[in-house]
Amino acid sequence: MKKGKIAEKSPVMMEMEPGTYWWCRCGLSKNQPFCDGSHKVTDFTPMEVKIDTKRTVFWCRCKQTDNPPFCDGTHKTL
Ligand code: FES
Repeated sequence: MKKGKIAEKSPVMMEMEPGTYWWCRCGLSKNQPFCDGSHKVTDFTPMEVKIDTKRTVFWCRCKQTDNPPFCDGTHKTL
């Protein structure tokens, strides 16, 4: 699958409340790691992520992970 532009070469750790989130797949959002609508000039769409219980998440911002939307360490190879 095609991957987005590198937004940051590091993940961001966040304490997430249960809910639905939209992870930016294109890499253009100014509100990383979440979608801000910037993908409209691309053929990317954001990924819907449901968080069921309060937990810590390491969100991928390099967009090269093989386990989206989560960091898998790929940023270390960029
Ligand atoms: S801004 Fe990147 S997927 Fe929406």
